[in-house]
Amino acid sequence: MMPKPQQKPICPNFGSGPTAKPPSWQLDHLQSALVGRSHRSLEGKAKLAQLIEKTRSILKVPEGYRIGIMPGSATGAIECALWSCLGLYGVDVMAFDVFGKLWVTDVIEQLKLTDVNVMQADYGQLPPLVHNPDRDLVFTWNGTTSGTCVPNADWIHDDRKGLTICDATSAAFCFDLPWSKLDITAYAWQKGLGSEAAHGMLILSPQAVDRLQTYRPPWPLPRLFRLTNQGNLTEGIFRGETINTPSMLCAEDCLLSLDWAQQIGGMEGLVNRCQANFGVLKEWVNKTSWVDFMAHDPSITSPISVCLTLPLLKDHPIVAQREFLKSFGALLRNEQAAFEIVNHIHAPPSLRIWCGPTVESENIELLLPWLEWSYQETLIEFGKL
Ligand SMILES: Cc1ncc(COP(=O)(O)O)c(C=O)c1O
Repeated sequence: MMPKPQQKPICPNFGSGPTAKPPSWQLDHLQSALVGRSHRSLEGKAKLAQLIEKTRSILKVPEGYRIGIMPGSATGAIECALWSCLGLYGVDVMAFDVFGKLWVTDVIEQLKLTDVNVMQADYGQLPPLVHNPDRDLVFTWNGTTSGTCVPNADWIHDDRKGLTICDATSAAFCFDLPWSKLDITAYAWQKGLGSEAAHGMLILSPQAVDRLQTYRPPWPLPRLFRLTNQGNLTEGIFRGETINTPSMLCAEDCLLSLDWAQQIGGMEGLVNRCQANFGVLKEWVNKTSWVDFMAHDPSITSPISVCLTLPLLKDHPIVAQREFLKSFGALLRNEQAAFEIVNHIHAPPSLRIWCGPTVESENIELLLPWLEWSYQETLIEFGKL
């Protein structure tokens, strides 16, 4: 029997969203939040405008691209894009994780579009990266539940008629996104930034703005999705005059995360931290026989939401696999050594360890002996399966 490791990760938050807070985060820092005041006050609008401009600076979003704060977290922002822009051209939808599959349902069952080409792949794989410039494309940059990500956007044409709509929920602030390839990008505050969940961010290229101003979809648009007024973009939304009431407490928390991101060197600092975290985990996975990456191709293996399978489980019924992982996770949770490292219920039974920028690599190092310990303990509990 392996002795219980002595030292625990200082922060055991390895879940994939909400993720760990930035290392310098303290609840006290939220004292400056504009609580009990209107988001439409001078100060409220200034905070939200600041949030947009800091986002632009860290993510290096070009001038001319609009950035808006939307209701409904990442889902709200993505669905706003789908409902507002689709239907003019045929649409290609890539689906290789839980969420990509949800966008397929939106496009086919809710919007009832018929000229739809679904490009699916199993967990741990990607569909062929092909782009038809005459059609709209909906794709996920990082499959949070599949442990795969697109390796780049070189396969997207620069000269295109259709729009590219990117679900960057777990990619923003983790990958240096190539804005010239992305017309509509959506994400939420609680992943790369480790901030509070509440609002979604929508980033629009000039081509996306043009679509919004010249195309009217045939279906009704809820007010929460309406970005135009009589064919003109509602510019105020992209200056912080949100469609409806945002949480100023969450906005303050997002500002704190953005300030932290700036202090650590902006995008370069964020990516370096992700790479360092993944480096530690990868080295361990490569020398550990009881775990494998869910993705087998290193060029598409996500370094952020790292999904791991257990070869021992593969010949057992799914229910038994889930039971094993549940016990594995519960042991670590009870010890407060790791929280939420069992993958999403709709993904194949697997572990998932968030290696985004708010995680400290020292904590990944401290996690590793606990993973070994929990595996040994769970094996004993399950009578070696
Ligand atoms: C890739 C991806 N898209 C969309 C979502 C939905 O995000 P939200 O809960 O912010 O709407 C998630 C959540 O984990 C995600 O991982």
